[in-house]
Amino acid sequence: MRNSFKGLRPFSEILFSSLMQAEKLSNRGSLMKPKVLVTREVFDEVLNYLSQYFEVTSNPSDIPMDSNTLSEKLYDKEGALITLSDKIDATLLSRCPNLKAVCNIAVGYNNIDLDACTKARVMATNTPGVLDDTTGDFTWALILATARRLTEAEAYLRNGQWDGWKLKQFLGLDVHHATLGIFGFGRIGQVVAKRAIGFEMKIIYHDIQEVPPEIEKACHANYVSKEELLAQADIVTIHVPYSPATYHLIGERELEQMKPTSILINASRGGVVDDSALIDALRKGTIAGAGLDVFENEPKLNPHFLELKNVVLSPHIASSSRNTRVKMAMLAAQNLVAALNGKTPPNLLNPF
Ligand code: DGY
Repeated sequence: MRNSFKGLRPFSEILFSSLMQAEKLSNRGSLMKPKVLVTREVFDEVLNYLSQYFEVTSNPSDIPMDSNTLSEKLYDKEGALITLSDKIDATLLSRCPNLKAVCNIAVGYNNIDLDACTKARVMATNTPGVLDDTTGDFTWALILATARRLTEAEAYLRNGQWDGWKLKQFLGLDVHHATLGIFGFGRIGQVVAKRAIGFEMKIIYHDIQEVPPEIEKACHANYVSKEELLAQADIVTIHVPYSPATYHLIGERELEQMKPTSILINASRGGVVDDSALIDALRKGTIAGAGLDVFENEPKLNPHFLELKNVVLSPHIASSSRNTRVKMAMLAAQNLVAALNGKTPPNLLNPF
């Protein structure tokens, strides 16, 4: 009897091997999803969305990765959701053979070498549009706080120095009816201008080219040269992208062309302003004050800023409302999904 089953495998062995087969298949299901890296902490809804399409490696500890760690983590990945703290250059790309797309959670993309991406056939994307209003609002927070010396006055009060009302206490700069000079008249610059209409300001702007008359009209703004803007504005606010062309757009020479009563606002990128020259100008009274959300070599800002009373400082948070940061991360995720599904991502930056 036994011999008649010779050559047949026992049932338990068959069952075990079928189970192994099933497990292999289900593993293969998940292995077949492209692997992607999310380099910094993001919102759960974004991770959940990405997990529908990809095998996701995330970074819940939110510790920024240096270039070596980033390339190790990206070695076997097809895509990445990145932030401005991740430098994507030719060296990194040469170490990531499977990489097809890097999707920045930011509108600025000076952390990405676009030429190197194009050569490596890696798509690069950003998140334009979704943060304009929020960044414009925050620019106004900086303008008002700097013009009216809000943080300086608050520190005085918190330190227990306030001993009563004084006529000449914390005399500031009037914002209403002042002249607002906007460097960079793209989407964010225009939002800042529209908010200025409520303050009945004179609005002037400078950019590499004039915007169409209907936009000027909607923003109540007039084009002027760089020199005219610096000489006329009571408040100079910067909204240009960072590139070799805008490196130190505002340096010693430009600061000297500004009025001694004027203030400078920067919520664009560190490097657009020469921070050492600005510190000098704030010390000497070349200009009255500055409101800064971005710095050269951030997060290690020049420590001399901390010694100055006439500067309002914030840690690169202009776009940081909950709604907007979710929108930015979600838009970056949608770009990644499109890129790895053979579609043109909505915010592709380099030619493909
Ligand atoms: C951007 O989107 O470029 C912002 O600076 C990120 O905060």
